[in-house]
Amino acid sequence: MAKILITGGYGQLGTALKEVLEDEEILLTDTDSMDITNAGQVGKVFDEFQPEWLMHGAALTNVDGCEENPELADKVNRLGTKILAEACKKNGVKMIYISTDYIFDGTKGSPYTEDDEPSPKSEYGSTKLAGEKAAKEIANSYILRTSWVYGEGNNFVRTMLKLSEKMDEIKIVNDQFGRPTYALDLAKAIRDVIKKSPPLPVIPARQRSGKHPAGIYNVTGDGKIISWADFAAEIFEIARKNTKVIGISTEEYFSGNKDKKIAPRPAYSALDLTKSKQAGLSLRDWRDALAEYLSKEAK
Ligand SMILES: NC(=O)c1ccc[n+]([C@@H]2O[C@H](COP(=O)([O-])OP(=O)(O)OC[C@H]3O[C@@H](n4cnc5c(N)ncnc54)[C@H](OP(=O)(O)O)[C@@H]3O)[C@@H](O)[C@H]2O)c1
Repeated sequence: MAKILITGGYGQLGTALKEVLEDEEILLTDTDSMDITNAGQVGKVFDEFQPEWLMHGAALTNVDGCEENPELADKVNRLGTKILAEACKKNGVKMIYISTDYIFDGTKGSPYTEDDEPSPKSEYGSTKLAGEKAAKEIANSYILRTSWVYGEGNNFVRTMLKLSEKMDEIKIVNDQFGRPTYALDLAKAIRDVIKKSPPLPVIPARQRSGKHPAGIYNVTGDGKIISWADFAAEIFEIARKNTKVIGISTEEYFSGNKDKKIAPRPAYSALDLTKSKQAGLSLRDWRDALAEYLSKEAK
């Protein structure tokens, strides 16, 4: 039984991890029980729980919120991760850091591999990438990059289902492409990383660069690469809703939000799954995962 400390324990991923890691000794934490930006509090929790693993999913995940408040995004996503990575190093703990497709600028036009050079466009993407660097430079770590996560909590799928109750048609962006990820599937891939025997090689501390970095893996739903409008249409089809999807550009979608800071999003952020599949971490087709999620939501 592994001892696993989990940050973001009550977020979408944390809730899925609780279900998937029920045979392990886990400690779920949130801002109250372990504010990751508070080194004293982090040290105390490490001393008391003595984890073998840290599964770090806590982050400021509101992409536009990060654009509005870059200092806070930096504090949570970079500094918080650095504090955790230092605690991992001090205590000999292996770290899993959850990163994002938003570290890429979206101009490649084909799926991003683990070796592609990141070039974030937004505060969220930059601060998550800074978190990657902290994890890589200090701790023996894995970095799992994911995209378009939905599970327990507010997410795109639930928003679409709610809107379908009152709208006959809905405008959704059709010029951003990627692949959705069911939080439960991501949690299962994380369980595989932890349980693998022989273990997957970690990123050795202080590996700053280099091709084929050992412990970076893309972990998203498999299958067709789609736009958000396609995703909404699939949700409505599986859930048998009659709401019609009208595809519009990102520019048009945000045109009513002139007073608010809107983060630039990558136009194409699908992640290449070849390396994860070779390591035995493959996720299923996102459509199968979505069908399972929607059947649970319908109960
Ligand atoms: N959602 C996506 O589409 C997506 C896509 C790519 C990558 N990711 C990454 O995947 C990970 C999990 O995402 P998610 O969707 O599960 O996120 P989520 O539901 O937004 O949960 C994030 C959690 O982080 C916690 N948190 C924020 N600031 C904190 C602090 N200072 N100290 C401790 N905890 C703090 C929050 O805890 P409280 O409950 O205390 O507020 C929140 O529950 C994140 O690292 C995210 O960057 C997500």
